[in-house]
Amino acid sequence: MFTRRLQFLTKVSVFFGAFLLIVIIYKNLGPADLPEIYPSELKVQFIENREVNQNDLFNLKSFRHRITPSRECKSFQNEKLAVMVVMSYVGHDDLRAAHRQALPEESLNALGISRYFLLADIPTSTERYISQSQIDDESSRFGDILQGEFIDAYRNLTYKHMMGLKWVAEHCDMFKFVIKVDDDIVFDMFKLRDYMEKGIHSGNFMAGFVLDNQKVVRNAKSKWFVKEEEYSKPTYPTYLSGWLYITTPSTAKDLYQNSYGTDFFWIDDILITGVIREKSRVMTIRMNDWFSPNAEFMKCCVRDLKEHFYECDYNIGPNGGENKMLKEFAEGSKLCHQGKCFQKPLENSLHKTCVAEVHEIFRDHGDPIVKGFNLG
Ligand SMILES: *[C@@H]1O[C@H](CO)[C@@H](O)[C@H](O)[C@H]1NC(C)=O
Repeated sequence: MFTRRLQFLTKVSVFFGAFLLIVIIYKNLGPADLPEIYPSELKVQFIENREVNQNDLFNLKSFRHRITPSRECKSFQNEKLAVMVVMSYVGHDDLRAAHRQALPEESLNALGISRYFLLADIPTSTERYISQSQIDDESSRFGDILQGEFIDAYRNLTYKHMMGLKWVAEHCDMFKFVIKVDDDIVFDMFKLRDYMEKGIHSGNFMAGFVLDNQKVVRNAKSKWFVKEEEYSKPTYPTYLSGWLYITTPSTAKDLYQNSYGTDFFWIDDILITGVIREKSRVMTIRMNDWFSPNAEFMKCCVRDLKEHFYECDYNIGPNGGENKMLKEFAEGSKLCHQGKCFQKPLENSLHKTCVAEVHEIFRDHGDPIVKGFNLG
């Protein structure tokens, strides 16, 4: 009798124990395991949660657009190669007109490129030549203006730069590439197009003029003087010149998302293509030999193109304050693209034939990259 009862109890406790064990195993391995099974989905959710706060742009807590382009990326009909964002001071309506003349919308579209201008609010205390109604008119004529609600000022360029990246990430991700360019830069759109057509890199990248180991300027007289409280390290991370760079909508999205929790810094190129790029683990691609640091060289290039059909040694450079350079350089590059140009003979190299006085430098904080050259 007694042993039977014991046997029964043993059986019950074995069953009960097994049941408990199953419950415990299920609890521990079952639902608790989910995060490891779907890590990528959780990550996406996390990123999307961070994205919810649409009104933040660094420390601008109620950021809005005053004007958005009526001609949207999604309505673009051609091959969607690149969306180009041109950083333009709100008062530079003449320079924007020069861009639209140099590369009219139809020619750009045929190349698979859609262009937008990034503006901000008129600084009413200093700007006397342009009114918001003029900007509204320009926008309704061309539909290519994105205007942020913050004052258009040198020390606010970081907002404008990030506004552009945020906007292309959210509205233009059907395009393969993003070109960011300043409004006073001339460039060979045909060469840039050929370069992009070949496919630059399959992952996230930024390609342009790469600057390494640049020292922070602590000389209060310099234009690039930066206080310790603004930036404490002695050198900047590797960054790209903001004159022109190529990236992708997905990189732009990563950069925008990683701007959360990053301290504001007024030198936009350094913050966005340096600090935040590094934080986002985005690689740089050197296109340094595409660039001339010198406006004089670009002028000589245009001269040689017109007179001798000589191809230019550089594809990107500053316009030296001359709006017409945009059109002339674009026309020249078109001729060369059509195979009508010759290679410049060595004895006619820019270094020998061009009087170059350096009055444009990279944001390299002091030393011009190219010294002046004199004839003879
Ligand atoms: C930058 O924009 C903000 C928002 O409009 C403004 O308060 C600030 O004064 C601007 N900064 C400069 C240097 O103008």
